Parts: sequence; C-alpha cells; structure tokens
Amino acid sequence: MARPVLIAPSILASDFARLGEEVAAIDAAGADWIHLDVMDGHFVPNITFGPPVIAALRGVTEKPFDCHLMIAPVDPYLAEFAKAGADTITIHPEAGPHLHRSLQTIRGLGRKAGVALNPATPPEVLAHVLDLVDLVLVMSVNPGFGGQAFIPESIEKVRRVRALVAGRDILVEVDGGVTPDNAGALAAAGADVLVAGSSVFRDGDYAAAIAALRTAADRR
Ligand code: DX5
Ligand code: ZN
Repeated sequence: MARPVLIAPSILASDFARLGEEVAAIDAAGADWIHLDVMDGHFVPNITFGPPVIAALRGVTEKPFDCHLMIAPVDPYLAEFAKAGADTITIHPEAGPHLHRSLQTIRGLGRKAGVALNPATPPEVLAHVLDLVDLVLVMSVNPGFGGQAFIPESIEKVRRVRALVAGRDILVEVDGGVTPDNAGALAAAGADVLVAGSSVFRDGDYAAAIAALRTAADRR
C-alpha cells in the first residue's frame, strides 16, 4: 500500500502579525509538517524571516519543521538553522559552490538534507549526491512568492524524480501552486509531501483545507 501523503502548510501565506497562533492553528488543523520559507532578497526577489523567528516558533508545535532555504550563500547559515530547530534543511544547488559538501554539513548537524529543484533545474543534478539526500523538493513555481500558478510540467518532473530515487529512503516533495485540483495527479506521479500556502490559508478553515488536500491526494 502506498504511504499516506504528508501535508506541509507553508506559513508564507499566514498572517505574520500572528505567526505563533497561525502555526498552532495549522498544527491543530492536522498539518503533518510546518513548511518554513526562508528568503534573502538576493537568491530570490523577496525577504521573509530567519533563524530567530524559527527558534521562537519552535516552542509552539512539536510538528517537524521543514525549512526551505532560498538564500545564497547558504553554507554560512546551516548551523544556525539546525540550532533554531529545523528538522529538514532543504537547499538549492545554485545557492553554493559545492552541493555535496553542503549536504554533508546538514547531515553532520544531525538534520535531514533536502535538495530543491527550480523549474529549470534538471533532476540529473542529484545523480551523484543521492547517498546524502533525504528529500527532493520539486518546485512547481519559480521560488520567491506564494500564490503563483502551478506549472503543469511539474507533474512529469515528479515522475522523473520518483524514478531517480526509486529504492531509496528519499521523500519527494512538491512546492508551489498546490491545490486539491492537482494534488491527486502529484500523488499519483510519486509525491510524498505536498507543500501548500495559499490553498490552506486562503479561506480561514484550515482543517477543511488540509483535509481537502489529503482526500485529493489519497484518491490517486
Ligand atoms: C515559494 C515557496 C512556497 C510557497 C508556496 O517560493 O517555496 O513554499 O509558499 O505557496 P503557494 O502554495 O501559495 O504557491
Ligand atoms: Zn517552499
């Protein structure tokens, strides 16, 4: 039987003035992981939050913190994100000169290591680092903002990444424009974790929104 798909709401779409309450609310509403989008205004054209905010939120929930780092250079900050309470640290190959070394560092910090693939980044970048990877994040929008339209080609990319990691203990995650309309196709293509910002936070009933994604994904 297929593993149940995990739902990871992105707090990028939450009310930042009430961040702690928002994280507690998605925890209570059934989120499996909490997705934290860290942006630096350099690697991506937007700025969000960093380790002090993540450390403050760590006291609010025991759910795994899925930290998506959209910062460059990323290496000087890995230890700080681990200390702040990240469970998974996901980096972009373009964010440093030595992907293999960055993944070794994350593993060395005792955290799970993720690699995020931009829409234009080929899955082949993973070929020689698979032994160091716990998660592959397929970006289904260009990184930087919530609320963008899903890139349909991502479904085929998920299928390719799934084939690439076959037989390994590696999760495939999809991030960007995920809704109940595409969750089933993504799960069928091999996604294990669905990140969702707008579709969870948009209309106030977080439990219903998370359940709708879960139901759509389980119908694969
Ligand atoms: C985009 C972020 C996403 C974003 C998803 O750079 O990585 O996690 O928050 O938001 P939605 O679900 O609104 O596309
Ligand atoms: Zn993200």
